[in-house]
Order: sequence, then structure tokens, then C-alpha cells
Amino acid sequence: MSKLKDMSNTTLQGYYAELSKSYQDFQAQNLKLDMSRGKPCTEQLDLSADLLDCLTKSDYKASNGIDCRNYGGIDGIPEAKELFSWILDAKPEEIIIGGNSSLNMMHDLISRAMLHGLPESDVPWSKLPKVKFLCPSPGYDRHFAICQHLGIEMIRVNYQDDGPDMNQVENLVASDPAIKGIWCVPKYSNPTGIIYSDIVVKRLAAMPTKAPDFRIFWDNAYAVHHLTDTPGTLLNILQTCNTAGHPDRVFEFASTSKVSFPGAGIAMLVSSVNNINWLKKQLNIQTIGPDKLNQLRHVRFFKNEAGIKEHMVRHAAIIKPKFNLVLDILESELGGENIASWSKPQGGYFISLDTLPGCAKEIVAKAEAAGVLLTPAGATYPYGKDPEDKNIRLSPTFPPLSELKQAMELVALCVKLVSAEHELAARGL
Ligand SMILES: Cc1ncc(COP(=O)(O)O)c(C=O)c1O
Repeated sequence: MSKLKDMSNTTLQGYYAELSKSYQDFQAQNLKLDMSRGKPCTEQLDLSADLLDCLTKSDYKASNGIDCRNYGGIDGIPEAKELFSWILDAKPEEIIIGGNSSLNMMHDLISRAMLHGLPESDVPWSKLPKVKFLCPSPGYDRHFAICQHLGIEMIRVNYQDDGPDMNQVENLVASDPAIKGIWCVPKYSNPTGIIYSDIVVKRLAAMPTKAPDFRIFWDNAYAVHHLTDTPGTLLNILQTCNTAGHPDRVFEFASTSKVSFPGAGIAMLVSSVNNINWLKKQLNIQTIGPDKLNQLRHVRFFKNEAGIKEHMVRHAAIIKPKFNLVLDILESELGGENIASWSKPQGGYFISLDTLPGCAKEIVAKAEAAGVLLTPAGATYPYGKDPEDKNIRLSPTFPPLSELKQAMELVALCVKLVSAEHELAARGL
């Protein structure tokens, strides 16, 4: 129970007056701070500065002799496959190295399924009366935006500490042939930071599905983005699906957007050889090949697995103090108040803040009115609707520490202020 409940009416009114005064002081500062998106900060981008000149004019050939300046190489150059294969633990023939965005690959894949169907589909998905996706929530707003844009009905599934509620998932996919997919961010999930347990991965791989062309969209965007020296492990989904007798069930994605440059990195997709061969035929219609010079550049810059690992340690050294600052302020301002709870992620880009039910929208609006932009409340749920209006995604990486401190002090204040307002309203005061 929140501490507010223990206050007498007079104490509560006095406490609220104090908070309002502090809020007005913030407003007077005319802050203009942005914590709305999980973007790397300038110092992180600087870590990859040498990417921009690590190719010379005579260094343009891939290991198979292909001229990277020219068309071709639809699934990526061999050394890029080798460099990135360890991230997703896949064989070269199970990988497509694409362009600059994994979200683009996800969008195109689902669009293809809508237009043409997948290998096992009787008809293109768009010819069906309904197509549905399971959306474990809170989740990544851009996944949900793809579904909404393509007219795919989203079914909310609850997240637990080790992945989606598998009883819910298994029941739904076993009975409804319109459910064609599930979105998963299995490591350092956006925004909750959880890692899927082995049991959850095995159940996802093994569960019977009514739709023969059901797919898991396994967005492993934060596979190497650890904030600790002892990262948790994630089962290899492709191998687990194979062992469970569903070798074609998964499409897995990753990118270097938050390793090198967002928007100028390398995206990759991993799947069964069957799926990859099907996709390569489709890709051949769409493009004559990806940007292989960027692939070669990334290979020259990172060199090998150790090169990427060392680079990620440097990223962590920059952003860990920011995560710690946010967690410290949440603890010192809100700890023990019982008006909020939050995740303590071991990696990734986000902290997930849960407020009292019915408060998140008002908190985000109050923060914005005092100059701090947060991810819109509700964005972490399908259709932008958080059923309890309590989840707020915090993105600590982009602002400098000094700005982050101001922003978080304001966020914590807004949590207290709105919670107190609700308590006053509940008492009719
Ligand atoms: C879970 C997740 N997937 C994908 C992306 C975007 O990836 P890309 O830049 O490769 O399109 C993000 C970016 O925030 C993300 O959080």
C-alpha cells in the first residue's frame, strides 16, 4: 500500500502543496530535455569514428573476389557473415546480411507474407478475413506500428519475468488459425530488460500452432549490449526450433545500429535454409544487392568477435553510469513509497517504470509541460493503449549525465505529484 494512504488529510494537502511548489520551480527553469527514444549519445557514436575512413580506394574486394563497389551479393559478403555469425550463433547459409535497418527487414518480411504468403501459406495473408499477431507487452512500439499499418490485429499477451505468459500463448496459437506470428525481443527486452528463460524458448519452439505458416519474429536487437561482465544467456532459438521439429518457425533479426551507427550500420536476418532460400528469391526482385562497401567497412573496423566485444565494453563504460544515475534517483526519490516500481536491466537501452494504475499519461504530460520529453505513455502497448495506464519507458542513453539528472528528478517529482493528486481525488479533497 502506498505511503500516501497513511497520511491524514491535512498532511496530504501540505505534502501536495510542497510538491506543487517544486514543480513550479522546475517549470521556471525552461528545461528542454529529451528522454524519448533509445538513441546512442555522441560519445558512443565517436567510438566508431574510424569506420568512416577504414577503407582505402584499393580495398574494395571481398574474400570471394567480388568487387564490393558493384552490384550483386544478395545475401551479404562472406566475411560479414563470418564476423556476425557468432552474434546470432548461426551458419553462413542461415544468414542474410542486409542493408542498414533490421526493422526494415521485419517490415518487408511481413509485407511479403501479406502480399504473397510464406512458403506454407495456402493464400497470401491479406486474402484471409483476419490476420492476428501476439504482442507480448509492454513491448517495442515500432513492432506494433508495423502490425497496425498492415491491418494485422494485435492480441496483447502479458510479460512475466522470464518471457511472455506461455500458458496464454500456447492456448491462443493452438486454437486460432488466424494467429500468424508473435513478436519477441528475447534479450534485454525493450522496455522491460528481461531475458527469455530456457523454458520459455523451448515452449515457443515446441508449441503446436493451428496456423501452419506461424512464425516467431525474434528481434535480438540487444544480443551483445551488456551492462555487466557476467551477462545472462539466451538459448539459440533456431536450433531449439529445429530440435522441436519446427525448423522453419523462426525469423531472427539483429543489427549494428547500437554497435556502430544507427541508420548507417548493418542489419542481419537468420532463419532455416528453407526460409533463407525462399527469401533470397524475393530479395532478388527487390534489389540487385545491399551496400557491400558498408559491410566490408564494418569487417575492417571490427575485425573479429573480440573486436566487437571490446567495442561493446566501451559502450557500456559510457552508458552504465547513466543507467546507474536513473536507478539511484528512482531509489532515492521513490524507493519505499509504494507508488512505483522499475526494472533494473543487465543490458539493452531501457528502464521500464510502472506507476500506480491510471497515472502514466498524466505523469508524461506533466513532465513534458515542464520541459522533459518522454516516450508517450501507452506506446509500449498495441494501439498505444496501456490497459492500466501505468507503464513509462525511460531511455537513459542519449542525454548527458547533467541533463539526465535534471530530467529524472523532474520525472520522480511528477510521479509523486500525480500519485498525490489521485489520492486527494480519491478522498474527495
Ligand atoms: C527491439 C528493437 N528492434 C529494432 C530496433 C531498430 O533496429 P534497426 O536500427 O536495425 O532498424 C530497435 C531500436 O530501438 C529496437 O529497440
